[in-house]
Amino acid sequence: MSRFWSPLLNQLTPYVPGEQLAVPNLIKLNTNENPYGPSPRALQAIAEAAGDALRLYPDPHATALRTAIAARHGLAPSQVFVGNGSDEVLAHVFQALLKHGLPVLFPDVSYSFYPVYCKLFGIEAHPVPVNASFEIEVDGYKTPCGGVIIANPNAPTGLALPLADIERLLQLQPDRVVVIDEAYVDFGGESAVRLLDRYPNLLVVQTLSKSRGLAGLRVGYAMGSSELIEGLERVKESFNSYPVDRLAMAGAAASFDDEAWFEHTRQAVIRTRGELTASLQALGFEVLPSATNFVFARHAGFDAAALAQGLKQRAIMVRHFRLPRIEQFLRITVGTDAQCSALLDALRELTGPQAKAA
Ligand SMILES: Cc1ncc(COP(=O)(O)O)c(C=O)c1O
Repeated sequence: MSRFWSPLLNQLTPYVPGEQLAVPNLIKLNTNENPYGPSPRALQAIAEAAGDALRLYPDPHATALRTAIAARHGLAPSQVFVGNGSDEVLAHVFQALLKHGLPVLFPDVSYSFYPVYCKLFGIEAHPVPVNASFEIEVDGYKTPCGGVIIANPNAPTGLALPLADIERLLQLQPDRVVVIDEAYVDFGGESAVRLLDRYPNLLVVQTLSKSRGLAGLRVGYAMGSSELIEGLERVKESFNSYPVDRLAMAGAAASFDDEAWFEHTRQAVIRTRGELTASLQALGFEVLPSATNFVFARHAGFDAAALAQGLKQRAIMVRHFRLPRIEQFLRITVGTDAQCSALLDALRELTGPQAKAA
């Protein structure tokens, strides 16, 4: 608190990102980064872009990148908006498309940035409870609202909603924007992109941070009707003309040229996820069925905060949220096979007979 802060600032509870500890040999399974990293082609494009041209501002319209994204999804470049990570894109979405003087609906267990944006932009948040199995029930989204935002697959649960449910949601709220945050869709979800030509109220948001291994580059994007995209451009042009820099544009566009890398690394994560799930179950964990690059797991016999602490002492980071309904869960990013086996060894120690006796 400071007397120099605005009244709004005094009421904010900022989002807390996962820790980025600088510990040697840390096994970092707490922020859903991709263990395989970016395509070598993306790295080469970044290196080539790191030259004298950095004197110049980047293209404010990000034309080349938007064209690459549009081509990937079968859309026109005018249907694509890019930003500095999908977090920034989402921030503009709340301000440009969801703020209508009515509450915004989202699941009570979901990405914890949504309520933060509501506070920041003076929007009432209306969390809709997920059911006892942590699934989103679309019938809860009928009430008058300023808009709806759903992460699909959802985070931190990892559960995917079938496209038929998304379509029903779009029909329940034809006069409001329904945002589908597809940060994890490439690991097993069904993308709503193919509903775009039938639903002008649909906006789909994706990121290069997860399936393309470029969390450090900060590139995310939204896809929708050119009317919705123009709305986002208006907010962006009132905020920062150049959110995506020259290096990010070059690397991001090149990552879409390397389908082989994308497919190979994505399949590796999906395979390891299956093995990790089975091993955690063998240790007595309940693991929600994940369509993402993380698993959400709890153990009836051990406190999640204590397990997260025990792992941290062994230089293994996982995410634990002190939030209602999920405080006994750990969210564990799917790492390499070696990282996952180190995690499992540590959990064996922490949940083994000696641990119980302690
Ligand atoms: C559901 C969801 N949406 C959006 C993001 C933001 O991703 P980025 O800003 O790296 O694109 C995340 C990051 O973890 C996420 O989990």
